[in-house]
Amino acid sequence: MKFESLLIHGGIDGDASTGAVNVPIYQTSTFKKGKFDADNTYEYSRSGNPTRAALEKLIAELEEGYAGFAFASGMAATTAVLSQFKTGDKILISNNIYGGTFRVLDKYFNNFGINYSVFNSSNIEELKNNIDDSVKAIFIETPTNPLMGITDIEEVAKIAKKNNLITIVDNTFMTPYLQKPITLGADIVIHSGTKYLGGHSDLIAGLVIVNNNELAEKIGFIQNSTGGVLSPFDSFLLIRGIKTLALRMDRHNSNANIIANLLKDRKEVEKVYYPGFEDHPGYKIQSKQAKGYGGIISFLLKEGYDYKKFLENLELITFGESLGGVESLICHPATMTHAAIPSEMRQEIGITDNLIRLSVGVENVDDITEDLIKALEI
Ligand SMILES: Cc1ncc(COP(=O)(O)O)c(C=O)c1O
Repeated sequence: MKFESLLIHGGIDGDASTGAVNVPIYQTSTFKKGKFDADNTYEYSRSGNPTRAALEKLIAELEEGYAGFAFASGMAATTAVLSQFKTGDKILISNNIYGGTFRVLDKYFNNFGINYSVFNSSNIEELKNNIDDSVKAIFIETPTNPLMGITDIEEVAKIAKKNNLITIVDNTFMTPYLQKPITLGADIVIHSGTKYLGGHSDLIAGLVIVNNNELAEKIGFIQNSTGGVLSPFDSFLLIRGIKTLALRMDRHNSNANIIANLLKDRKEVEKVYYPGFEDHPGYKIQSKQAKGYGGIISFLLKEGYDYKKFLENLELITFGESLGGVESLICHPATMTHAAIPSEMRQEIGITDNLIRLSVGVENVDDITEDLIKALEI
């Protein structure tokens, strides 16, 4: 089955017992045991629930992985993945990663002696130089959030394999429609399902996909033991969102391309970070490893330009957290999504106060254009 059809018919297609075209919401905490010695598939919904199982099977197929796991948020998914490590282990993370991922390592896992070290993920030599005996995994996001740096997944995975390390890729920005890290050698893929996969800004969810049985057993054990599972209702919503992923991503891609070019030519804008520009340093790698450039654009407003007023003046584009919804969303990374990163480090990597991140929605692009121009010109 082709990917677009798999989005609609993959995993568990409908309900065999009634013929319903959608997987039902199994809103139950527990399941009847019946026979004393019965070995039933479902016993208790933390351990397994049929609606969640349908979603988990679907995402594993979409990412071409071995097994999938659904969590109550992207951060619950990341936390579950990082929970496989032990005191003394070190994780190498990209210097430009979602603020919450940085925070959970910096302020939570460090309590258990799990360390991290930061490297520039667009520079493979820097990665090699950071590997020592304590390093157990490499955690990347590509494109990076919010500066849209590109990392060569295949190269990272090759280095990881050589050194017996696990490659973890947060694929939230791209989705499996545009990029499939496991096919490029990654071991674990993480998603904030809250974003493009859900697509409608109406749920919080996280997903983990692994490429082998050993990792599946580990993550399955952690999921059941720590219990941050996705509810049956939210599993249903996420399955529903995924059905239209291809249609939405095509529009996100084309709208973002038009908006990136518009911003590039504006006198109020200093610089646009968009991997679809041929002069973007990661353009070649992005074109090789992904089927598109995605719907996220970051841009620097000119020094002295009133970025607060610009954000407040937008009418169609929602000024708020998050990304990947059908509606255009805009945020100020330094005080919002990346506030957990120490100010000095933010400045160093370029998350300055005049940096804006725009998640281009699927509205008519003329309306998005008009809103941006009006707000920029006020
Ligand atoms: C790239 C990325 N990964 C992970 C997360 C965390 O996901 P959630 O908010 O669903 O916990 C986010 C949230 O913004 C994100 O942008």
